[in-house]
Amino acid sequence: MKDRYAVMGDPVSHSKSPAIHRAFASQTGEAISYEAIHVPAGHFQEAVEAFRNEGGRGLNVTLPFKEEAFALTHEVTDRGRRAGAVNTLWFDAGGGIHGDNTDGLGLVRDLVANLGCELEDRQLLVVGAGGASRGILGPLLERNPARVVIANRTAGRAEAVARVFADAGPVEGCGLDALDGRRFHLVINATSASIGGKVPALPAGLLEEGAWCYDLMYGDQPTAFMQWGEHNGAAHVADGLGMLVEQASESFRIWRGLRPDTLGVIRMLRTEARESPASNEV
Ligand code: ATR
Repeated sequence: MKDRYAVMGDPVSHSKSPAIHRAFASQTGEAISYEAIHVPAGHFQEAVEAFRNEGGRGLNVTLPFKEEAFALTHEVTDRGRRAGAVNTLWFDAGGGIHGDNTDGLGLVRDLVANLGCELEDRQLLVVGAGGASRGILGPLLERNPARVVIANRTAGRAEAVARVFADAGPVEGCGLDALDGRRFHLVINATSASIGGKVPALPAGLLEEGAWCYDLMYGDQPTAFMQWGEHNGAAHVADGLGMLVEQASESFRIWRGLRPDTLGVIRMLRTEARESPASNEV
């Protein structure tokens, strides 16, 4: 029998995780099944326990359950703990629930290995101070940037997130209005504004020469934030599709002990998105 894995979310029918993990399984020859399970709000814990009790081996967790998943873990990695949210669960022989957050590692791999964006000694800006932002800050700070500024519409939330990561590296939190006159090598959109086709109110002149704009969201068209980057002099813009595949490959490694090749899978998803456009999210 195949080892059983799944992604749980609400909604979940749009999720690309089944296609990604099935591609990883056929590439590596691992005998796994992977399905999408829709879980209504208020039923996450019972759904996880039922999946585990039926012999399920591991789960990916997507919106809106990453914080609830964290709360269910008996053991969690340091980056999952700091994020206060996990996207990967697995079960030990005694039924214990383990968790990790692979989003930040996925982002950093996409930026550094796939795209060639340098992080070390660079000024980085993360826009947004919700769960998406907390999930990426630890791995970004591990790459020794000169500074990571977290800027948010609600300044107090950015300051609170910066305090959580204060011992992990040079990080500060502020409001969007405090960005005037500052310049960055990389601006990451970790807000949910792209879902509504909106862009956070960022000042002009934010981008250094050769700068990058990276949106954690993705779609078959450039997101509103990617368009903002193009209009504001970014040398490179990217969406979060590569991050999605990279976070999945780290989940697969945790579960199976093998790291699949990701570039072919990213290419496959890009082609599919072009051929059958639909709106997508992280
Ligand atoms: P997630 O878990 O996806 O990060 P969240 O915790 O709801 O979701 O956080 C959403 C983030 O997007 C917040 O930083 C929010 O800013 P506020 O804290 O000020 O609400 C940000 N956001 C959403 N829409 C935005 C918009 N139109 N402009 C700027 N920021 C926006």
